[in-house]
Amino acid sequence: MSKVQVRLEINGNGYDLAVPSHRTLLDVLREDLDLTGSKRGCDRGECGSCTVLLDGKPVYSCITLVGQIRGRGVTTVEGLALRQAQDGQEGQLDPVQQAFLDEDGAQCGYCTPGFLISARALLDANPHPSDAEIREALSGNLCRCNAYGRILQSVRTAAERGG
Ligand code: FES
Repeated sequence: MSKVQVRLEINGNGYDLAVPSHRTLLDVLREDLDLTGSKRGCDRGECGSCTVLLDGKPVYSCITLVGQIRGRGVTTVEGLALRQAQDGQEGQLDPVQQAFLDEDGAQCGYCTPGFLISARALLDANPHPSDAEIREALSGNLCRCNAYGRILQSVRTAAERGG
């Protein structure tokens, strides 16, 4: 099986890997780098549990091939707290994570990393979203526990606190 050499920038760290060209970003994160925060749900681009930021935009890592993302920056849910540390707030959760905790935005929690990433992308681009804009931004993420009301409130709370 042919391998390609790729350099990935993940949560601010550089990784040089030799991987099969068809390997997905989700496989690399979970199986090669032990970054298991991004979850494998449907594994076909439908549920959003694998969502990560690619240059600040949410993408499904299960349908993103590593060969497509050379030289681009990836942020996983593990990287959210690292961003806080870089902002001088070592040990603090990202405001979206804190709001999900305070508003009980997670039920079983499996989909939560994907929602956190999509919410982070929204608030980075639009710090004061309407409910309709929150729903639109989260429309690519599914919650099988049907906790959508609490998820919406969590994002509202994060926005009210300054995102
Ligand atoms: Fe990637 Fe469902 S696991 S969208």
